[in-house]
Amino acid sequence: MHILVTGGTGYIGSHAVLALTARGHTPVLVDNLSNSSKQVLTPLQELAGCELEFVEMDVSQRDQVQTLFAVHDFQAVLHFAGLKSIGQSVQSPEIYYRNNLLSTLNLAEVSASTGVQAFVFSSTGTVYAQNDGQPFREDDPLGPINPYSRSKWMCEQILRDISQSGSGFHLANLRYFNPAGAHESGKVGEGPTGFPHNLFPFLGQLAAGRQNVLTIHGDSYPTPDGTGVRDYIHILDLVEGHVAALDYMLTQAQSITLNLGTGTGFSVREVVTAFEHASGQKFTCKTGPVRAGDVAITLANADLAHQVLNWRASRGLKQMCADHWRWQTQNPNGYGR
Ligand code: NAD
Ligand code: UD1
Repeated sequence: MHILVTGGTGYIGSHAVLALTARGHTPVLVDNLSNSSKQVLTPLQELAGCELEFVEMDVSQRDQVQTLFAVHDFQAVLHFAGLKSIGQSVQSPEIYYRNNLLSTLNLAEVSASTGVQAFVFSSTGTVYAQNDGQPFREDDPLGPINPYSRSKWMCEQILRDISQSGSGFHLANLRYFNPAGAHESGKVGEGPTGFPHNLFPFLGQLAAGRQNVLTIHGDSYPTPDGTGVRDYIHILDLVEGHVAALDYMLTQAQSITLNLGTGTGFSVREVVTAFEHASGQKFTCKTGPVRAGDVAITLANADLAHQVLNWRASRGLKQMCADHWRWQTQNPNGYGR
């Protein structure tokens, strides 16, 4: 199938491209390169064993989306393009709403009018209202608490309404928890463009000697060791979930909302220990204050994805650390930016 991958040079999009080509699909990658580099195309083409079409464009610009669809006949869309930093979204909410909402609206509108059959959307586990009843199930109450997460929640509604209109496509609305790791080749991974605020990219740079000390953001949470617990999911499991969701929409002619996580949580200290083993290093850690916007625990209930897609994450924390470390070692400066 001819498949549009927006955000195709980004972290998740680039790994999804490999999952699609492995299944014989023909992805067309588009990206405005605001948070990624064209350099990823070289390892992607090498690993995919074929030329990949890349279009540098901004999907929040309606005319650019219309022009793209005028020269391509897409059967499916995987929409990864978006801004994703919670902190930045609090500083500049208008930029987040403009980029994420307009991109989604443009793509949904043009997809519906050109007969796209299946649309996969990158949503987030942060759309759920915080509660004590974790892990989150798909039918739990929603209540995003920052502009980034609210923009995703609004996109979910735009897409649901358009998918249910007469000309609509089938929609897989996928809520991700904490993607981590890299392609097992070590040639494709997560190359953050600025300071590594997230745990895995920071540990990668710490092990590589580019950072000195990990600040643990709080150790008095009501968790077994006091540090924050998250549901980390290997990037390859995550993108395989997308391919399964695509197959489901095309074979069952149904739309679906699903969590993509593992259902198992790891604390910051557990991740640190696992990364120390993977890299053969001992890290210096200090405890700092709780990070604004952080919660104690975030966990997915991943049962529905298993029931509906027959998909389950199979790779564990050890592999996430080993694969991230391999990528970091082979690409000390990410994609060179
Ligand atoms: P990423 O920043 O690596 O990739 C997103 C890509 O979209 C980037 O390459 C960026 O340049 C591009 N982009 C942004 N706005 C664009 C626009 N208007 N037009 C064209 N390209 C544009 O992020 P990622 O981690 O790969 O995330 C992919 C998607 O998954 C995002 O929508 C994100 O919100 C969502 N998500 C990510 C996580 C996570 O932890 N990584 C968790 C939940 C949801
Ligand atoms: C964050 C985002 C989330 C996004 C995800 C991308 C927030 C509040 N949430 O999730 O929307 O999808 O990144 O992967 O920004 N930690 C430290 N020290 C560090 C970095 C992190 O102790 O230097 C801790 C955090 O407090 C948290 C855990 O490690 O307990 C994971 O943090 P991180 O990787 O940033 O992910 P989230 O905060 O879960």
